[in-house]
Amino acid sequence: MTERVKVLIPQEEVEKRADEIAARINRDYEGKSLHLICILKGSVFFTAELAKRLTIPVTMDFMSCSSYGSGTVSKGIVKLVKDLDEPIEGRDVLVIEDIVDSGNTLSYLLGLLADRKPASLALCTLLDKPARRVKKDVVVDYCGFEIEDHFVVGCGMDYDQRYRNLPYVGIMELEGE
Ligand code: PRP
Repeated sequence: MTERVKVLIPQEEVEKRADEIAARINRDYEGKSLHLICILKGSVFFTAELAKRLTIPVTMDFMSCSSYGSGTVSKGIVKLVKDLDEPIEGRDVLVIEDIVDSGNTLSYLLGLLADRKPASLALCTLLDKPARRVKKDVVVDYCGFEIEDHFVVGCGMDYDQRYRNLPYVGIMELEGE
């Protein structure tokens, strides 16, 4: 099978959007400290892009979860694999993701985090696929790009654990199966 990656969002556009979102976050949280939560692994790259553009005081923590279900389409059951290292009670928390798809992961994680009584809880994602949303309760506060239902890689997103390091968002094309 041949793998080909077609550019969907070039690196310059990703970086320009990161500038814009970081500027908004800096304004929205002016005078406050912000606790960033990176959801491993895909969010590592976008979290770093955003974090280095923030001028407000920032702390960071990481969590990881896995989704189970029948195949790649319905990954309904989410399990926590790595919890945060620090409590979030009373803190302003921003969860950062690379992509929100069905919303199953974020519906679970945001519920879990809200129970820990942060001062505020918001969600930032590089990509949003609203057409695929199953969990309608997931509200995206900061969105890089809304995209159609493509299989995307790069900027943290993988195909079989590869391509995460591409500096642009690409569409994964598989030919000759
Ligand atoms: C991706 C992404 C989100 C989730 C979104 O992670 O980073 O966490 O899927 O999908 P959903 O809205 O349908 O739940 P993935 O499970 O691929 O793990 P990874 O970040 O380690 O690649």
